[in-house]
Amino acid sequence: MTEDRKDSGQKKQKTEDALKEVVALAKRRGFVFPGSEIYGGLSNTFDYGPYGVELMRNLKSEWWRAFVHNRSDVVGLDSSIMLHPEVWVASGHVNSFNDPLIDCKNCRARFRADQFAEEHLERSAANLGLEELTALFAEKNAELKCPSCGKSGTFTEPRQFNLMFSTRMGSLSGQDQQVYLRPETAQGIFINFRNVVDSCRVRVPFGVAQIGKSFRNEIIARQFIFRTREFEQLEMEFFCKPGTQKEWFEYWTNFCMDWLYGIGLSKENLRMRAHEESELSFYSEGTSDIEYQYPFGWGEIWGIASRTDYDLKQHAAHSRKNLEYTDPEDNSKYLPYVVEPALGLNRLLLAVLCDAYSVENPGTKEQRTVLRLHPRLAPVKAGIFPLQKKDGLPEIAQEIYNRLSTLFPVDLDISGHIGKRYYRQDELGTPFCITVDYETKENRTVTVRERDSTNQQRVAIDELPALLANKLSV
Ligand code: GAP
Repeated sequence: MTEDRKDSGQKKQKTEDALKEVVALAKRRGFVFPGSEIYGGLSNTFDYGPYGVELMRNLKSEWWRAFVHNRSDVVGLDSSIMLHPEVWVASGHVNSFNDPLIDCKNCRARFRADQFAEEHLERSAANLGLEELTALFAEKNAELKCPSCGKSGTFTEPRQFNLMFSTRMGSLSGQDQQVYLRPETAQGIFINFRNVVDSCRVRVPFGVAQIGKSFRNEIIARQFIFRTREFEQLEMEFFCKPGTQKEWFEYWTNFCMDWLYGIGLSKENLRMRAHEESELSFYSEGTSDIEYQYPFGWGEIWGIASRTDYDLKQHAAHSRKNLEYTDPEDNSKYLPYVVEPALGLNRLLLAVLCDAYSVENPGTKEQRTVLRLHPRLAPVKAGIFPLQKKDGLPEIAQEIYNRLSTLFPVDLDISGHIGKRYYRQDELGTPFCITVDYETKENRTVTVRERDSTNQQRVAIDELPALLANKLSV
């Protein structure tokens, strides 16, 4: 083995281990559980535990605050998961939302043809069309081994596979209708464009933001919660005057990147990647992805696309409704252009966990695992511990809990070795731990320990709400 290959093998091992450690912590501390676990699991599904759901809610409210509440030019929306089937014809998803797949005829394992070709034929196949992939597989099939059963020459020709989940709506057989679970939240916004313009006092340029679940029948779903079939999106469609889209595109790409820095993601783990011409979706005039450096490599977290007037034009044509906007300044009529920042919540949560995960003094007695979450994201803001489970200390801790829990989420942990209680809160990313000790009984002060520095200060109980609110900026 050459040194280079040895190094890259070790690096791969290290990065795989890093992801495993984050996955283990996520389960151990109640962030993310494997889906349907007691029934043996349902592949690629995950449930978010008590701390995972708090982290998710905090991410969503940070996003909503920055994209909706703090802005006079963006409003919110919550559209249905199931939309009229014609929506997906108009948007192009029925015809074009496909991945090329191959099946092993021996063991029926299924792979994405372009990814398989990239990984096993060591050539860039990401942008090959179906015809080119078909030719490539016809040429190489005999020598290709199925990674699942090990047999060679067993692959079918690549064929297109639509990623939308379909279901039937209605209870009477024969009278039901095929509908799709939305593969993106965006279309729910486009079909409500007219409603929003008519009911709210919005003026172009303005945005409509939405948070919600989306579903895609991904052929290969993997890397923990990075690519799943059910996931949540935070999307905003920003409607602007044709000709101004370039400026807005630049504005929103910078805004999104700054927002990620603001919630504490490290700059060196983030990058912006502009799509090559050949990668662009058919509706896009330009797309840039913000990528995060996960333990398994760079992965898209946020796609910012300049979608032109494609969607509104399509919906106007298919619904036969006039979706033109009348500019109040000069009475001109036009279909606005759209810049769309589309963020995946689950990928964001994984990035936040990976970024925050740190092991201090590994292999020593002082080893400590800490989730260095931004205080506003932390699921629990403070742990409250009585030093001993006696002598009236638990009662004082309870009193502090009652007071602080009206302000933000706090945890009361009464029993066990104090070091273990700190350890648990460090792994949860709790920024502060408050300890009630014997001095508390004398002068009503407690110690407040900061997660990252582990420094402690003595503080009067009465000062706790103001001190913590200030430090947490909640
Ligand atoms: N409306 C545009 C749109 O949906 P996209 O790039 O397909 O664009 C936006 O999706 C974001 O949604 C992605 O950047 C990613 O974070 C997230 N996402 C997409 N597919 C996903 C999947 N299968 N699992 C988890 N997140 C996904």
